[in-house]
Amino acid sequence: MLRGVKRLGIILAGGSGQRFGDQIPKQFIRLAGESVLRRSVVALASGGAFDHIVVAANPDWLDETNEALKGLLGPALSVVPGGSSRNESTRAGLDALKAADDDIVLIHDAVRPLLSREVVERVIAPLADGRADAVDTTIPTPDTLVIVDGDRITDIPNRSLYRRGQTPQGFIVGTLRTAYANTPIGSQATDDCTLVLRHVPGARLLHVAGAEENIKITTPIDLVLADRLIQLHSIPPSKATTPAGDSSHWSGRRVVIVGGTSGIGAAIATELAALGARIAAVGRNAADDVTSASGAEAALATAVSSLGGVDDLFVTAGVLHMGPLAHQDAADIAETLAVNLAASVYLARAAHPHLVKSAGSLTLFTSSSFTKGRPNYAAYSATKAAIVNLMQALADEWADAKIRVNAVAPERANTPMRQAAFPNEDHTVLLSAEEVAAATLRLAASGLTGQVLDVRR
Ligand code: CTP
Repeated sequence: MLRGVKRLGIILAGGSGQRFGDQIPKQFIRLAGESVLRRSVVALASGGAFDHIVVAANPDWLDETNEALKGLLGPALSVVPGGSSRNESTRAGLDALKAADDDIVLIHDAVRPLLSREVVERVIAPLADGRADAVDTTIPTPDTLVIVDGDRITDIPNRSLYRRGQTPQGFIVGTLRTAYANTPIGSQATDDCTLVLRHVPGARLLHVAGAEENIKITTPIDLVLADRLIQLHSIPPSKATTPAGDSSHWSGRRVVIVGGTSGIGAAIATELAALGARIAAVGRNAADDVTSASGAEAALATAVSSLGGVDDLFVTAGVLHMGPLAHQDAADIAETLAVNLAASVYLARAAHPHLVKSAGSLTLFTSSSFTKGRPNYAAYSATKAAIVNLMQALADEWADAKIRVNAVAPERANTPMRQAAFPNEDHTVLLSAEEVAAATLRLAASGLTGQVLDVRR
């Protein structure tokens, strides 16, 4: 019987992430709720009807690798111990695949989670058509390349001839086998196409266009960038004209809004009511005090008993007292810490058992000042930075329970809080509460977690 050509994949996950420098190898770090490794595997798999993908894992982290891929493992996805170098990991993956020489294999870094399906298809096409024995994925280099020897420049080549190599790289299995068979023991390269180029004379080596977004997570800054890129792809742009959400998501959801009686919270409540959600608004006006553990629990219990559970909790309550800290009223400082921070902490804790049941979401509110403390806003900015930390920690702690936790960072918005602080401000330059509400709902419905969503005019 004729055997069809198989499409196979190798995910290289044998590294330890020295340059990233975290306690765990970078492939296990969560990016918007899912590990970098899992995202990379899913990205490769979704691009090309693979018969089998093997993950070459760091041998010291096999349990963690299996755990990160829980639910995906099966006959089409398996894990094997990788090697002591990238090339050795490829070799281990190739051995495990038990491929025929005419099969096609794609090799992808476990730390390129933003691979698109189009790029995978571009790599497969010339191999499937019989036009290539090996295919690299490349992008142009925006910077001029400079060849150096110590501190001396020896050449500045024509930039248009150079490309940056990414993954996946694709091969006819026989070609890759020959490359590895001909590679002297101990000789290493930073990729697999290099070995074909060096050791398989006459091999037809093509390149196809990669993508600027297909970044390799190498240092922590790459993770920040990847996080933002995922957000951009997952949440439609914040425009007042974009609908807040489709009622198919929100209809019948049980939503608790703390601070839901004024400002952004009230705008969220109005929007959600129109989308068919069931709402319990908790606010100062409703005589709820959520700034203590017992108060937060009591307020939430009341909301839960009226709704029968909680699918989404929005904590929008906030106060703003301005002025140099040394001259601020102690009571104002206490209120800032209590309303802007303690309430979110206690409400999150009180909501946890309910959100576990619903696999729901928690959305907190920070401000555009969270990245940098500002004079005259010391306590306020500190609470807003703390909210981002709280959100990040909870997104991680609750990821396994499928609870999504995010924060919204609105620019200056036209709310009663702002009007009280700046009575003479021109309101037309401010974001409206409705714009912030619409962006907030798109975030909460997006499926993302661990995100800070900036809302700007
Ligand atoms: N890799 C591998 N086996 C190794 C070393 C690296 O499979 N023995 C994989 C990595 O897991 C990663 C890819 O090769 O998916 C690209 O390598 P790189 O970014 O260099 O990853 P690390 O080796 O983990 O990072 P570093 O060089 O900073 O230690």
